[in-house]
Amino acid sequence: MKVGVPTEIKTDEYRVSLTPAGARELVEHGHEVLVQGGAGNGSAIWDRDYAAQGARVLADAESVFAEADMVLGVKEPQPDEVAMLRPEHVLFTYLHLAPAPELTRGLADTGATCIAYETVEDSHGRLPLLAPMSEVAGKIATQAGAFMLEKPLGGRGVLLGGVPGVAAATVMVIGGGVVGFNAAAIAIGMEADVFVFDRNIDRLRELDVAFAGRASTVYSSVLAVEEMLPRADLVIGAVLVHGARAPYVITREQLKLMKERAVLVDVSIDQGGCFETSKPTTHSDPTYEVDGITHYCVANMPGAVPITSTYALTNATLPYILALADRGVQGALERHPGLHPGVNVAGGRVTHAAVAAGTGTEFTPLDQVLEPQVASN
Ligand SMILES: NC(=O)c1ccc[n+]([C@@H]2O[C@H](COP(=O)([O-])OP(=O)(O)OC[C@H]3O[C@@H](n4cnc5c(N)ncnc54)[C@H](O)[C@@H]3O)[C@@H](O)[C@H]2O)c1
Repeated sequence: MKVGVPTEIKTDEYRVSLTPAGARELVEHGHEVLVQGGAGNGSAIWDRDYAAQGARVLADAESVFAEADMVLGVKEPQPDEVAMLRPEHVLFTYLHLAPAPELTRGLADTGATCIAYETVEDSHGRLPLLAPMSEVAGKIATQAGAFMLEKPLGGRGVLLGGVPGVAAATVMVIGGGVVGFNAAAIAIGMEADVFVFDRNIDRLRELDVAFAGRASTVYSSVLAVEEMLPRADLVIGAVLVHGARAPYVITREQLKLMKERAVLVDVSIDQGGCFETSKPTTHSDPTYEVDGITHYCVANMPGAVPITSTYALTNATLPYILALADRGVQGALERHPGLHPGVNVAGGRVTHAAVAAGTGTEFTPLDQVLEPQVASN
């Protein structure tokens, strides 16, 4: 198979979808790797590093899309990239389609098989290709929040850890999954007073053991959230319902309960945002203010630390990339059944129920779409 690695073109995105080590594994499996010249530069990986592992470096994205059977990405395809997709392409990248009906329709119109990293599941129903970026984003969320609390940046002017004789700041993390755990771990390390909210009691039990009393766990009811908001200096939103648009856990009305110049970090913004007042921002212009509350809503947080994120991403995606390249989509689905919920769009149809619900499109079970399509290839 010919595997294409185009340069990411989303604003302030510096990751690349394959490392030289990943390229080498594909070459060892008998595949061709086509890398757009400069694709790795943002992650300090140079064309010569890919070429040394047997990849071919092509001049532009058009050449990569024209030759490749499978196109690897990091962020969701931008309009110019959607225009280059064809029915025989497999696109493997983060898609976050539930809050994006236009992109969903655009991808369906191409006829390509579009597999979203973030809805691939492992045998325990966890999200192995979202997890590494959630680990990064969780850690950045607390760092960014701490920074935005500084007065010159528009924050309240409070230090997360306090000092002897002055109390620490209060950090509220809503959603105690991979992002929430990592955000809380960094907040604990910075000596803040930390509260993690979730609706899954088993998850709260795990967090309680993991944090060994250094953070409080709270069942996330509306009342519990409203009781904590007046105390919180930094609120990190990290909820997820697999594949679906994020639920709102803080409404505009509830912002009135917060301290002036407190900070909200909405990590769930890639799934549409979990605060009613959230809208996507970029690393170049990461914050805005609503009713005196700073909002940080960067949709590609791990893009800011590409040298960490690029390697973490390929470590997780490579087994699936190899399976898709070695066996094709149908064979890879047999090898990794968790790839099945990863296929969001195929044969012009939306094949993930939560994506269909989020985008108001018709849901077609994957088996009805893929078998005739694969049979005709
Ligand atoms: N902005 C970025 O750059 C970036 C990067 C990585 C991940 N993310 C996003 O962060 C979000 C969280 O990812 P994750 O890997 O931690 O997911 P996860 O599945 O590991 O954790 C989500 C948690 O939210 C909890 N939850 C769901 N609904 C809730 C509710 N109403 N109230 C309280 N808790 C609720 C779940 O029980 C679960 O524990 C996702 O939307 C993901 O796409 C964003």
